[in-house]
Amino acid sequence: MILHTVLSLFGLNEYQSHRAYDRYLSRMIRKNRGDRDLAYAMAIGSLSVELFRSQGDCHVAMLKHHGLKDGMALFDLGCGCGRTAQALQRSGWQGTYTGTDIIERFVAELRNKCPGYKAFVHRQPSIPVPEASIDLLFHWSVFTHLSLEEIYLYLADTFRALKPGGKVIFSFLELTDPEHQTLHFRRVASMERGKKLPELDTFIHRDWIKVWADKIGFTQLSFTDGTDDTDHPASWQALAVMSKPKS
Ligand SMILES: C[S@@+](CC[C@H](N)C(=O)[O-])C[C@H]1O[C@@H](n2cnc3c(N)ncnc32)[C@H](O)[C@@H]1O
Repeated sequence: MILHTVLSLFGLNEYQSHRAYDRYLSRMIRKNRGDRDLAYAMAIGSLSVELFRSQGDCHVAMLKHHGLKDGMALFDLGCGCGRTAQALQRSGWQGTYTGTDIIERFVAELRNKCPGYKAFVHRQPSIPVPEASIDLLFHWSVFTHLSLEEIYLYLADTFRALKPGGKVIFSFLELTDPEHQTLHFRRVASMERGKKLPELDTFIHRDWIKVWADKIGFTQLSFTDGTDDTDHPASWQALAVMSKPKS
Protein backbone atom coordinates (compact mmCIF):
# COMPACT_ATOMS: atom_id res chain seq x y z
CA MET A 1 0.00 0.00 0.00
CA ILE A 2 2.79 2.41 0.98
CA LEU A 3 4.74 1.50 -2.17
CA HIS A 4 1.61 2.02 -4.25
CA THR A 5 1.07 5.47 -2.73
CA VAL A 6 4.69 6.50 -3.23
CA LEU A 7 4.72 5.28 -6.84
CA SER A 8 1.44 7.06 -7.52
CA LEU A 9 2.82 10.29 -6.09
CA PHE A 10 5.65 10.13 -8.58
CA GLY A 11 3.29 9.19 -11.42
CA LEU A 12 5.06 5.88 -11.90
CA ASN A 13 2.22 3.52 -11.18
CA GLU A 14 -1.00 4.69 -12.77
CA TYR A 15 -2.65 7.64 -14.40
CA GLN A 16 -5.10 9.82 -12.52
CA SER A 17 -7.67 9.21 -15.24
CA HIS A 18 -7.40 5.40 -15.09
CA ARG A 19 -10.06 4.94 -12.38
CA ALA A 20 -12.32 7.66 -13.79
CA TYR A 21 -12.41 5.95 -17.23
CA ASP A 22 -12.99 2.54 -15.69
CA ARG A 23 -15.84 3.85 -13.52
CA TYR A 24 -17.40 5.62 -16.51
CA LEU A 25 -17.23 2.41 -18.59
CA SER A 26 -18.97 0.47 -15.78
CA ARG A 27 -21.66 3.17 -15.67
CA MET A 28 -22.21 2.97 -19.44
CA ILE A 29 -22.45 -0.85 -19.28
CA ARG A 30 -25.08 -0.60 -16.51
CA LYS A 31 -26.99 2.12 -18.37
CA ASN A 32 -27.03 0.26 -21.70
CA ARG A 33 -27.63 -3.30 -20.48
CA GLY A 34 -28.10 -5.54 -23.48
CA ASP A 35 -26.29 -3.20 -25.87
CA ARG A 36 -22.61 -3.78 -25.27
CA ASP A 37 -21.51 -2.00 -28.46
CA LEU A 38 -23.39 1.15 -27.45
CA ALA A 39 -21.94 1.01 -23.92
CA TYR A 40 -18.38 0.83 -25.25
CA ALA A 41 -19.07 3.49 -27.90
CA MET A 42 -20.42 5.84 -25.24
CA ALA A 43 -17.52 5.12 -22.89
CA ILE A 44 -15.08 6.67 -25.38
CA GLY A 45 -17.37 9.58 -26.24
CA SER A 46 -19.52 8.43 -29.20
CA LEU A 47 -23.22 8.97 -28.55
CA SER A 48 -24.34 6.13 -30.85
CA VAL A 49 -22.92 3.07 -32.56
CA GLU A 50 -23.49 4.78 -35.94
CA LEU A 51 -21.40 7.74 -34.79
CA PHE A 52 -18.72 5.41 -33.43
CA ARG A 53 -18.46 3.84 -36.89
CA SER A 54 -18.58 7.07 -38.90
CA GLN A 55 -15.97 8.70 -36.64
CA GLY A 56 -13.74 5.64 -37.08
CA ASP A 57 -14.21 5.87 -40.86
CA CYS A 58 -13.20 9.54 -40.63
CA HIS A 59 -9.99 8.53 -38.80
CA VAL A 60 -9.17 6.11 -41.62
CA ALA A 61 -9.80 8.84 -44.23
CA MET A 62 -7.40 11.14 -42.32
CA LEU A 63 -4.77 8.43 -42.05
CA LYS A 64 -5.02 7.67 -45.76
CA HIS A 65 -4.80 11.35 -46.61
CA HIS A 66 -1.62 11.60 -44.52
CA GLY A 67 0.02 8.61 -46.17
CA LEU A 68 -1.30 5.36 -44.70
CA LYS A 69 -0.62 2.51 -47.13
CA ASP A 70 -0.85 -1.26 -47.01
CA GLY A 71 2.25 -2.83 -45.46
CA MET A 72 2.89 0.02 -43.03
CA ALA A 73 3.35 -0.23 -39.25
CA LEU A 74 0.73 1.91 -37.49
CA PHE A 75 0.67 2.70 -33.76
CA ASP A 76 -2.59 3.87 -32.14
CA LEU A 77 -1.91 5.52 -28.76
CA GLY A 78 -4.88 5.53 -26.37
CA CYS A 79 -6.62 3.15 -28.75
CA GLY A 80 -9.70 2.79 -26.51
CA CYS A 81 -12.05 -0.01 -27.53
CA GLY A 82 -10.97 0.28 -31.16
CA ARG A 83 -12.97 3.00 -32.90
CA THR A 84 -10.03 3.47 -35.29
CA ALA A 85 -8.95 -0.19 -35.31
CA GLN A 86 -12.42 -1.47 -36.20
CA ALA A 87 -12.68 1.07 -39.01
CA LEU A 88 -9.25 0.08 -40.35
CA GLN A 89 -10.35 -3.55 -40.33
CA ARG A 90 -13.62 -2.64 -42.14
CA SER A 91 -11.63 -0.69 -44.72
CA GLY A 92 -9.61 -3.80 -45.64
CA TRP A 93 -6.28 -2.12 -44.80
CA GLN A 94 -3.42 -4.65 -44.70
CA GLY A 95 -0.63 -3.68 -42.32
CA THR A 96 0.70 -4.03 -38.80
CA TYR A 97 -1.51 -2.40 -36.15
CA THR A 98 -0.39 -1.88 -32.55
CA GLY A 99 -2.58 -0.13 -29.99
CA THR A 100 -2.04 0.72 -26.32
CA ASP A 101 -4.39 2.06 -23.70
CA ILE A 102 -4.49 2.46 -19.92
CA ILE A 103 -7.83 0.60 -19.59
CA GLU A 104 -7.75 -3.17 -19.65
CA ARG A 105 -11.40 -3.66 -20.70
CA PHE A 106 -10.97 -1.31 -23.69
CA VAL A 107 -7.96 -3.28 -24.86
CA ALA A 108 -9.82 -6.59 -24.40
CA GLU A 109 -12.75 -5.26 -26.46
CA LEU A 110 -10.42 -4.13 -29.26
CA ARG A 111 -8.72 -7.55 -29.35
CA ASN A 112 -12.10 -9.24 -29.41
CA LYS A 113 -13.33 -7.11 -32.33
CA CYS A 114 -10.02 -7.13 -34.25
CA PRO A 115 -8.35 -10.48 -33.54
CA GLY A 116 -5.58 -9.83 -36.08
CA TYR A 117 -4.45 -6.62 -34.35
CA LYS A 118 -2.01 -6.30 -31.46
CA ALA A 119 -3.18 -4.25 -28.46
CA PHE A 120 -2.05 -4.11 -24.86
CA VAL A 121 -2.26 -2.12 -21.65
CA HIS A 122 0.56 0.35 -21.13
CA ARG A 123 0.55 2.95 -18.36
CA GLN A 124 3.76 4.90 -18.81
CA PRO A 125 4.19 8.01 -20.99
CA SER A 126 6.14 6.10 -23.61
CA ILE A 127 5.63 4.20 -26.86
CA PRO A 128 6.52 0.58 -26.09
CA VAL A 129 8.08 -0.41 -29.43
CA PRO A 130 11.68 -0.60 -30.70
CA GLU A 131 13.36 2.54 -32.00
CA ALA A 132 12.57 3.54 -35.62
CA SER A 133 9.92 0.83 -36.10
CA ILE A 134 6.70 2.80 -36.80
CA ASP A 135 5.57 4.47 -40.05
CA LEU A 136 2.59 6.37 -38.64
CA LEU A 137 1.68 7.09 -35.03
CA PHE A 138 -1.89 8.21 -34.57
CA HIS A 139 -4.03 9.23 -31.64
CA TRP A 140 -7.46 10.63 -31.46
CA SER A 141 -8.82 12.50 -28.44
CA VAL A 142 -5.98 11.47 -26.13
CA PHE A 143 -3.88 14.64 -25.66
CA THR A 144 -7.27 16.24 -24.99
CA HIS A 145 -7.16 14.66 -21.51
CA LEU A 146 -3.48 14.73 -20.52
CA SER A 147 -1.16 17.11 -18.68
CA LEU A 148 1.33 19.14 -20.74
CA GLU A 149 4.21 17.19 -19.20
CA GLU A 150 2.72 13.84 -20.24
CA ILE A 151 2.06 15.18 -23.73
CA TYR A 152 5.69 16.21 -24.06
CA LEU A 153 6.98 12.84 -22.87
CA TYR A 154 4.69 11.01 -25.30
CA LEU A 155 5.85 13.23 -28.19
CA ALA A 156 9.52 12.79 -27.35
CA ASP A 157 9.21 9.01 -27.26
CA THR A 158 7.10 9.09 -30.44
CA PHE A 159 10.11 10.64 -32.19
CA ARG A 160 12.26 7.72 -31.03
CA ALA A 161 9.66 5.15 -32.14
CA LEU A 162 9.11 6.59 -35.63
CA LYS A 163 11.11 5.50 -38.64
CA PRO A 164 13.00 8.34 -40.37
CA GLY A 165 10.35 9.99 -42.56
CA GLY A 166 7.57 8.67 -40.29
CA LYS A 167 4.70 10.88 -39.14
CA VAL A 168 2.70 11.55 -36.00
CA ILE A 169 -0.93 12.58 -36.47
CA PHE A 170 -2.99 13.61 -33.46
CA SER A 171 -6.08 15.56 -32.47
CA PHE A 172 -6.28 18.37 -29.94
CA LEU A 173 -8.61 21.02 -28.54
CA GLU A 174 -7.83 24.73 -28.91
CA LEU A 175 -9.49 27.68 -27.23
CA THR A 176 -9.30 29.70 -30.44
CA ASP A 177 -11.88 27.38 -32.07
CA PRO A 178 -15.34 28.78 -31.20
CA GLU A 179 -16.81 25.28 -30.74
CA HIS A 180 -14.00 24.16 -28.44
CA GLN A 181 -14.43 27.42 -26.55
CA THR A 182 -18.08 26.52 -25.96
CA LEU A 183 -16.98 23.23 -24.39
CA HIS A 184 -14.51 25.08 -22.15
CA PHE A 185 -17.04 27.63 -20.91
CA ARG A 186 -19.65 24.90 -20.34
CA ARG A 187 -17.13 23.24 -18.04
CA VAL A 188 -16.35 26.56 -16.33
CA ALA A 189 -20.09 27.03 -15.68
CA SER A 190 -20.36 23.47 -14.29
CA MET A 191 -17.51 24.11 -11.90
CA GLU A 192 -19.04 27.43 -10.89
CA ARG A 193 -22.24 25.57 -9.96
CA GLY A 194 -20.13 23.35 -7.69
CA LYS A 195 -20.24 20.27 -9.96
CA LYS A 196 -17.28 17.93 -10.10
CA LEU A 197 -15.84 17.77 -13.63
CA PRO A 198 -15.69 14.18 -14.93
CA GLU A 199 -12.12 14.30 -16.28
CA LEU A 200 -9.41 16.70 -17.33
CA ASP A 201 -10.02 18.46 -20.67
CA THR A 202 -6.77 19.91 -21.99
CA PHE A 203 -6.67 22.75 -24.49
CA ILE A 204 -3.36 23.37 -26.22
CA HIS A 205 -2.17 26.16 -28.47
CA ARG A 206 -0.63 25.59 -31.90
CA ASP A 207 2.40 27.65 -30.81
CA TRP A 208 3.06 25.23 -27.96
CA ILE A 209 2.99 22.27 -30.36
CA LYS A 210 5.56 24.17 -32.45
CA VAL A 211 7.75 24.67 -29.33
CA TRP A 212 7.61 20.91 -28.60
CA ALA A 213 8.23 20.01 -32.26
CA ASP A 214 11.32 22.25 -32.45
CA LYS A 215 12.70 20.99 -29.15
CA ILE A 216 12.28 17.33 -30.15
CA GLY A 217 13.32 17.67 -33.80
CA PHE A 218 10.03 17.15 -35.68
CA THR A 219 9.66 18.99 -39.00
CA GLN A 220 6.88 19.73 -41.51
CA LEU A 221 4.37 20.68 -38.80
CA SER A 222 0.91 21.33 -40.22
CA PHE A 223 -2.57 21.78 -38.77
CA THR A 224 -6.12 21.09 -39.92
CA ASP A 225 -9.02 23.03 -38.38
CA GLY A 226 -11.78 20.91 -36.86
CA THR A 227 -14.22 22.43 -39.37
CA ASP A 228 -12.07 21.81 -42.47
CA ASP A 229 -13.50 19.11 -44.76
CA THR A 230 -11.22 19.72 -47.75
CA ASP A 231 -9.27 16.45 -47.61
CA HIS A 232 -11.43 14.25 -45.35
CA PRO A 233 -14.64 14.68 -43.38
CA ALA A 234 -14.45 17.49 -40.79
CA SER A 235 -13.37 16.00 -37.50
CA TRP A 236 -14.47 18.60 -34.90
CA GLN A 237 -11.16 18.33 -33.02
CA ALA A 238 -8.16 20.03 -34.66
CA LEU A 239 -5.43 17.86 -36.17
CA ALA A 240 -1.64 18.26 -35.94
CA VAL A 241 0.74 16.38 -38.23
CA MET A 242 4.54 16.39 -38.11
CA SER A 243 7.41 14.27 -39.41
CA LYS A 244 10.64 12.76 -38.20
CA PRO A 245 13.26 13.94 -40.72
CA LYS A 246 14.45 11.32 -43.21
CA SER A 247 18.10 11.66 -42.11
C1 LIG B 1 -11.83 9.80 -25.79
S1 LIG B 1 -11.06 8.24 -25.68
C2 LIG B 1 -10.49 8.00 -27.35
C3 LIG B 1 -10.17 6.57 -27.66
C4 LIG B 1 -9.66 6.30 -29.08
N1 LIG B 1 -8.46 7.04 -29.36
C5 LIG B 1 -10.74 6.63 -30.08
O1 LIG B 1 -10.63 7.63 -30.80
O2 LIG B 1 -11.73 5.92 -30.09
C6 LIG B 1 -9.53 8.60 -24.83
C7 LIG B 1 -8.69 7.35 -24.62
O3 LIG B 1 -7.44 7.72 -24.05
C8 LIG B 1 -7.10 6.77 -23.08
N2 LIG B 1 -6.17 7.43 -22.15
C9 LIG B 1 -6.45 8.25 -21.11
N3 LIG B 1 -5.33 8.65 -20.50
C10 LIG B 1 -4.30 8.07 -21.19
C11 LIG B 1 -2.89 8.10 -21.06
N4 LIG B 1 -2.30 8.79 -20.09
N5 LIG B 1 -2.15 7.39 -21.94
C12 LIG B 1 -2.75 6.67 -22.93
N6 LIG B 1 -4.07 6.61 -23.10
C13 LIG B 1 -4.84 7.30 -22.24
C14 LIG B 1 -8.42 6.40 -22.44
O4 LIG B 1 -8.37 5.18 -21.75
C15 LIG B 1 -9.33 6.35 -23.67
O5 LIG B 1 -9.33 5.09 -24.27
